[in-house]
Amino acid sequence: MITLSVIKADVGGYVGHSSSHPKVLERAKECMEKALRDKLLVDFHVTRCGDDLQLIMTHQRGEEDEAIHKLAWDTFLECTKVARELKLHGAGQDLLAEAFSGNVKGMGPGVAEMEIEERGAETIIIFMADKTSAGAWNMPLYKMFADPFNTIGLVIAENMHGGFRFEIHDVKEHRKITLNAPEEIYDMLLFMGAPSRYAVKAVYHRGSDEIAAVSSTQRLALIAGRYVGKDDPVCIVRSQGEFPAVGEVLEPFTNPFLVEGWMRGSHHGPLMPVALRESNPTRFDGPPRVIAAGFQLSGGKLVGPRDMFDDPSFDKARQIANEIADYMRRHGPFEPHRLPLEAMEYTTMPQVVRKLEGRFVALE
Ligand code: F6R
Ligand code: MG
Ligand code: MG
Repeated sequence: MITLSVIKADVGGYVGHSSSHPKVLERAKECMEKALRDKLLVDFHVTRCGDDLQLIMTHQRGEEDEAIHKLAWDTFLECTKVARELKLHGAGQDLLAEAFSGNVKGMGPGVAEMEIEERGAETIIIFMADKTSAGAWNMPLYKMFADPFNTIGLVIAENMHGGFRFEIHDVKEHRKITLNAPEEIYDMLLFMGAPSRYAVKAVYHRGSDEIAAVSSTQRLALIAGRYVGKDDPVCIVRSQGEFPAVGEVLEPFTNPFLVEGWMRGSHHGPLMPVALRESNPTRFDGPPRVIAAGFQLSGGKLVGPRDMFDDPSFDKARQIANEIADYMRRHGPFEPHRLPLEAMEYTTMPQVVRKLEGRFVALE
């Protein structure tokens, strides 16, 4: 068995919240190299999306392993030191806990892990987003694993025709529900359609029970109880064979659907699929970005990455995203560009509202 762990955090932005400094990535690689020498890891890949640092690790210690989580936490601390030296913006911003306590979940970083029996050819795509929040994967995961208009394999591939099972987390009430596609898609959409509260945690193949996808569902604001930036989630998807083909996995991102995030984590905007080198959200601190790193696993070694959105067939999606961005921006501070009031509770807005409380007088 091999475990793929993707653990991420924003430990400081360069410049502002737009991107990451190469020296931070270098330090992360040094920490990972050491863990490789110590045989803690089988392999690793360090990357970034915007101002978020992602540690992609393979090992044989299973999910939620204390040593692996501590390695990630210590790596983020080391990288924070570099960020402080360079006076990068928001150094250590996602490290919410004082000290490591066995598991990085609930401490700020985002986590997506899956333990798998590596197939003859194990195709993996890791999605990483910046300037958005945990539920952003709901629509693409629905399309990949439940929508025959996206995934023709659901109709014509015998090994996919039985459908997939969705584990959906209620991130506010800390509970979960598991629903089956295709027969329960109306029930599923009831929850998944509200991504600020319900996030798809995992998807399973109903025939083999194999895990097909897993995402990070950590909500920073709910952990901290105040605004601390957006979650900037990650999602691991297995592809080919009994899972959707690479093209079926990428297809949902041709529609730059609206997500929450963008400037001050307080706006709706289009999710733009980009090459890694273009994951530097600058316009109004956005628009939100998603990158896709493709790997083949070989005895746990990460063969790759291939930069999956670095392809002219996604130019149109980027162009549409820019057009939507223009249109949304013209709303300025008005909803629905600005998030609805309930969601604004988790931004910096309530502090301002409190100041004006005394100015209200009762209506007749
Ligand atoms: C959104 C984001 C940025 C910041 C904004 C203000 O997720 O990271 O849009 O919210 O640049 O940043 P501060 O408050 O750090 O000056
Ligand atoms: Mg940041
Ligand atoms: Mg970020």
